[in-house]
Amino acid sequence: MVFEWTNDMMIDNDVIDDDHRKLISIANRIIELNRPNRDAEDLKQAIRELYDYVKYHFDREEVLMRKLDYTEVDNHHLKHVAIIKDMNHYLTSSHHMGEMLSNFRVLMNKWVINHIMEEDKKFHYFMQSKVESFLRKD
Ligand SMILES: [Fe+2]
Repeated sequence: MVFEWTNDMMIDNDVIDDDHRKLISIANRIIELNRPNRDAEDLKQAIRELYDYVKYHFDREEVLMRKLDYTEVDNHHLKHVAIIKDMNHYLTSSHHMGEMLSNFRVLMNKWVINHIMEEDKKFHYFMQSKVESFLRKD
């Protein structure tokens, strides 16, 4: 397994945490499928699945953020847009599957480590502070 889910990635929202786990598992499937004598169709199918799921997940995350009046939602949206742009770039400019996959590895690493651990975590702290301030109310 290349990308590993760890508890410190949790943001304590079941929908988002499950999405993140699923994204990591699709990413691992892509790495696994990339073996000698690989089945190109299976691999493309998994890449398509990841691409679609990332977009679906980002929308879903932003809907939740807006619902909770997350103050940084616009900024967070821009980070999502940048990741989708990167994905589009790698998928359209790579000359062969090997090149695309090595770029993909870098992107997933960047996405898993930086985005979940830094950006999504900020949303986690925001939710926690909302809970705290609710509990302080009379
Ligand atoms: Fe996010």
